[in-house]
Amino acid sequence: MLPHHAFQPSLSHPHGALTLVLLLLTNLSLVVATNPFTCYANDFVSPDHATGHYPSNLSGAQDIIVAWANEMASYGPWSVTNKPVVAPSGNKHDYMSWAPYQWPDCSKVGNKTKLSPQTMWKTCPYVFRDGQVNPDRTTINDFQSFFNLSDAVLYNSLAFTFQNQSSSVYSQRVVQYIRTWFLDSATSMNPNLKYAQMNRGPQGQTGEYTGILDLRGFAKIASGILILRQHNSSDWTSDIDSKMVAWSNKYIDWLQTASTAKQAASAKNNHGTFYVNQLMALKLIVNDTAGATALGRGYFGGIYKGQMQSNGNQPMEASRSRPYHYRNFNIAGMITNARLLKYADPTSNDWNTTSNGATIQTAVDFLMTTNPASTHETNVTAEIYPNVAAVAATYGDPQGKYVKFLNASGFPYADDASFLWDQPLAGGTLSANSNASPDDSQSHNGSSSSSAITVNRTVIWLLSGLLTGGWLW
Ligand SMILES: *[C@@H]1O[C@H](CO)[C@@H](O)[C@H](O)[C@H]1NC(C)=O
Ligand SMILES: *[C@@H]1O[C@H](CO)[C@@H](O)[C@H](O)[C@H]1NC(C)=O
Ligand SMILES: *[C@@H]1O[C@H](CO)[C@@H](O)[C@H](O)[C@H]1NC(C)=O
Ligand SMILES: *[C@@H]1O[C@H](CO)[C@@H](O)[C@H](O)[C@H]1NC(C)=O
Ligand SMILES: *[C@@H]1O[C@H](CO)[C@@H](O)[C@H](O)[C@H]1NC(C)=O
Ligand SMILES: *[C@@H]1O[C@H](CO)[C@@H](O)[C@H](O)[C@H]1NC(C)=O
Ligand SMILES: *[C@@H]1O[C@H](CO)[C@@H](O)[C@H](O)[C@H]1NC(C)=O
Ligand SMILES: *[C@@H]1O[C@H](CO)[C@@H](O)[C@H](O)[C@H]1NC(C)=O
Ligand SMILES: *[C@@H]1O[C@H](CO)[C@@H](O)[C@H](O)[C@H]1NC(C)=O
Ligand SMILES: *[C@@H]1O[C@H](CO)[C@@H](O)[C@H](O)[C@H]1NC(C)=O
Ligand SMILES: *[C@@H]1O[C@H](CO)[C@@H](O)[C@H](O)[C@H]1NC(C)=O
Repeated sequence: MLPHHAFQPSLSHPHGALTLVLLLLTNLSLVVATNPFTCYANDFVSPDHATGHYPSNLSGAQDIIVAWANEMASYGPWSVTNKPVVAPSGNKHDYMSWAPYQWPDCSKVGNKTKLSPQTMWKTCPYVFRDGQVNPDRTTINDFQSFFNLSDAVLYNSLAFTFQNQSSSVYSQRVVQYIRTWFLDSATSMNPNLKYAQMNRGPQGQTGEYTGILDLRGFAKIASGILILRQHNSSDWTSDIDSKMVAWSNKYIDWLQTASTAKQAASAKNNHGTFYVNQLMALKLIVNDTAGATALGRGYFGGIYKGQMQSNGNQPMEASRSRPYHYRNFNIAGMITNARLLKYADPTSNDWNTTSNGATIQTAVDFLMTTNPASTHETNVTAEIYPNVAAVAATYGDPQGKYVKFLNASGFPYADDASFLWDQPLAGGTLSANSNASPDDSQSHNGSSSSSAITVNRTVIWLLSGLLTGGWLW
C-alpha cells in the first residue's frame, strides 16, 4: 500500500490553481496531454535515437517532451546546498536523504512520557517496515531534486535536438543544471553518497547501501550529455565536459570502493540491477566504453541469471510488499542495462540472454497477465506501459499483442515521451498535430501554435506521490 499522504494533490498547491484557471480560460485552445509520465523508473536514450529528424507520427511525443522540458525547468536549477539541514559531516555539499521504510521503535527505551520528535530521533532505534514510507523521507529533498534534475536533463537535451541549432534555451538549461549540481564551487555536490538513505536513531547517522539507488537517474543524465556531445552543442564546451568527466571519475572511484556502494553492487535484486545502470552510465560519461561493456556483461552473465524463473516471474521482487511495482521497477533496470550495453557494445545481444530460460520479454509478458489488485496494489498499473513499449519496439510485435494491450489500457502511449525512442511501434499522432508535415522537427520547440500543449499536472502530482511513496528501493 502506498501511504495516503502521497496522493493528496490539492488546489492550494500554487500550480493547482493556475492549472485550473488555465483550463477554464483556454479549454478550447489548449491540448492537454492526459497522462504521460514525467518520471520513468529509469531509462537510457541512446544519442543514436535522438537523430534530430523524426517522422510526423512522433510529433505527439515531441510535444510532450518539450512540455516536460519546460515544466521541469520551473523547478530548477537544483543543488544539494538548497536543503534546510546539513549532513552529519557538517559539510553542506554532502548529499543526504532519509531511509524511506525506517521507523522509530521507542517500545524498548522505557519512554514513560510522550517523547518529542527530537528525543525520539536520538534515542529510539529504527526498525524496517517494508513498503511503509516514513513521512520524514520528504523533509530533505536531495533525492527528489536529483530525480527532477535527471528528467530535466533528459527532456531538455532531447528538445534541443528538435531544433537545428547549435545553441538553444534547452541546451543552455542542461548546462546550467549540470554546472549547478555538480560543478560550481558554491553549489556542487561532493562525489559520494555517504549520507544517502540514513536512518535516524542512535544507530543511524551514516548512509545505507539502499541509498545508492537514489542516483540511478545518472542513466538519464548520461543520455543528455551524450546527446549534447553528438549534436555538437556549442553550450556543452570542452571546459564543462572535462570538469564533468573529472567529477564523474571521482564519483566512480567512490562507487567502486565505498563499503555501502560495494554492498549495493553485490545485491542480487533490483539494487544490484540499478547499481549497474548508474555505474555504466558514469563510465559512458567518462568515455570508458570498455569499462561500461564489462559491467554490462557482468550483469547479464551474473545476477541477472538469478533474477527470473522460467515463466518470467522475479521471486526476489515478488516477495516484497508491493510485488507488481517491484517487478516493473526491476524490469526498467534490466531494460536500461540492455540499452546501455547495446550502446557501449553494439555487437551485444543481451535482450536475448536468458535467466532460467526467460528473457526481459518473458518478464513483461508475465506481468501483462498479472492483476495488481490481486496484491492490493493501486495506482501502479501505469508502471508497466513503458516496459511494454520497450519490449514491443525491441522484440517486434508481429501479432500486435503489445499495441493491443497498450491501446486497451487507455494510456495514450503514442503521445508519451518514450514513444520517441521506443521505435518501431505502431501508434498515432496527437490530433492537434495531425496536419503537421513529415519531418517537421523545427516546429517542435514549444512555442509554435501546433505545440499548444501543456502537461496534466494531476499526473505530475500522482507521480510525485509515487516518487515519495514507492519508487525508492
Ligand atoms: C489528468 O489526468 C487524470 C489522471 O489520469 C485524469 O483523471 C484527468 O481527467 C486528466 N485531466 C485532463 C484535463 O485531461
Ligand atoms: C513510546 O513511544 C512510542 C513510539 O514508538 C509511542 O507510540 C508511545 O506513545 C510512547 N509512549 C509514551 C508513554 O509516550
Ligand atoms: C520535482 O518535480 C515535481 C513534479 O514532478 C514537483 O512536485 C516537486 O516539487 C519537484 N521537487 C523539486 C525539489 O524540484
Ligand atoms: C541545419 O542547419 C544547417 C546550417 O546551419 C543547414 O545547412 C542544414 O540544411 C539544416 N538542416 C535542416 C534539416 O534544416
Ligand atoms: C558534429 O561534429 C562532427 C565533427 O565535426 C560531425 O562529423 C557531425 O556531423 C556533427 N554532428 C551534427 C549533428 O552536426
Ligand atoms: C573515446 O574513446 C575512444 C576509444 O575508446 C576514442 O576513439 C574517442 O576519441 C574517445 N572520445 C572522446 C570524446 O574522448
Ligand atoms: C489512487 O489515485 C487516485 C487519484 O487518481 C486517488 O483518488 C486514490 O486515493 C489513490 N489510491 C490510493 C490507494 O492511493
Ligand atoms: C535475438 O537473437 C536473434 C538471433 O540472433 C536475432 O535475430 C534477434 O534480433 C535478437 N533479438 C533481440 C531483441 O536482440
Ligand atoms: C511513422 O512514420 C515512419 C516514417 O514515415 C514510418 O516508417 C512508420 O511506419 C510510421 N509508423 C506508424 C505507426 O505509422
Ligand atoms: C486503438 O483503438 C482504437 C479504438 O479504440 C482504434 O481505432 C485504433 O485503431 C487502435 N489502434 C491500434 C494501433 O490498434
Ligand atoms: C521556437 O522556434 C521558433 C521558430 O523557429 C523561434 O522563433 C522561437 O524562438 C523558438 N523558441 C524557443 C523557446 O526556442
